Amino acid sequence: MWTKTAVTELLGIRYPLLQAGMIGAARADLAAAVSMAGGLGTLGAAGMNADELHREMKAIRLKTNCPYSVNLHIPMKEVLPDEGRLEEVCELLQPYWEELGLQPLNALASVRREAAYKQALFEEQLAVILEESVPIVSFSYGVLDNDWIDRLKHRGIKLIGTATTVSEGAHLEHQGVDLVVGQGSEAGGERATFLGAAEQAAVGTIALTPLLADALHVPVIAAGGVMDGRGIAAALALGAAGVQLGTAFLTCPESDASRRTKEALLTSMEESTVLTRSYTGRYARTIRNKFIADLSDEDHRLLPYPYQEALTRPIREAAEEQERVSCMAVWSGQASRLLTRELPAGDLVRRLVKETDVALDRLRRL
Ligand SMILES: Cc1cc2nc3c(=O)[nH]c(=O)nc-3n(C[C@H](O)[C@H](O)[C@H](O)COP(=O)(O)O)c2cc1C
Repeated sequence: MWTKTAVTELLGIRYPLLQAGMIGAARADLAAAVSMAGGLGTLGAAGMNADELHREMKAIRLKTNCPYSVNLHIPMKEVLPDEGRLEEVCELLQPYWEELGLQPLNALASVRREAAYKQALFEEQLAVILEESVPIVSFSYGVLDNDWIDRLKHRGIKLIGTATTVSEGAHLEHQGVDLVVGQGSEAGGERATFLGAAEQAAVGTIALTPLLADALHVPVIAAGGVMDGRGIAAALALGAAGVQLGTAFLTCPESDASRRTKEALLTSMEESTVLTRSYTGRYARTIRNKFIADLSDEDHRLLPYPYQEALTRPIREAAEEQERVSCMAVWSGQASRLLTRELPAGDLVRRLVKETDVALDRLRRL
């Protein structure tokens, strides 16, 4: 039976189906609905402070005793850009500040604050996780320090790392994670690459999954472009012991994605997305818009993560508030055209299970 795999056994869930922890979109309602339906719901907790994290975890626990996971971003340590580069990027962003009616920004203060803030927030989040004994933690964009790994494992917390290449998978396994998500280049959101250049690590899910499954001893979870039972059956055939879906859950009523984001996703096509550094400084698969098109010729001038993010955050927030799709960052996987309008997350999990049964049956009969 395909529903019993190393992933279901390790995580104590019914189906090897994980909902990706999506910052800004996956809060308690979505995570609880997926977990209650037998998948693994994940809190997209990377932007949450201690109070929010406590509140969201409590909200999950009030709804269900099923396992769930909390997703965090490992902070990156990049050199602070010099003032000349900052000025150049501010010049590039100036038309958007004006278009959105934003107050002038003290760029130097913003970028200086950003790295220290991200590091402090991450430590605050880990402290809450230890305090609350969260059952499962997933993370992207790097590896955890050994000290944190020891402390989390000591509490019996299962760890899921994210890799975009075999070397990253091996690195995570060596570090002691229990499972590895292989993020193919079809995936929506930021590329999780942490070793080498992200442009060279844009490996598709169909190539990455069997490579990771062959190279690693820990179970591999395939992510990127999976939207239905056909994708799940394919991922299992490629050697994955589980599948993680992000975009598929974005239009569920429990998702915190905005109404405009949901509309943009539901009208998108397979050629709508691009990998762009325009918003955060990290490559992210995003629905192409005017902001991305304008900045794509200037890629070499953009700042590294997290500094580009610090400068564009007010633009993203104002664009969301004013519902201006021309500047909004709509993260999306390549297969968004398969999205179904407003299907509740629990129903989506049940439908995915049925579709996988059908897809596997069809293969058997071929
Ligand atoms: C809107 C959105 C936000 C995301 N945020 C995160 C995040 O906070 N942490 C993370 O590890 N991955 C994040 N991802 C990436 C997912 O973990 C996953 O790799 C991706 O959604 C899989 O591809 P799919 O979108 O085609 O299903 C995000 C993806 C999307 C679409």
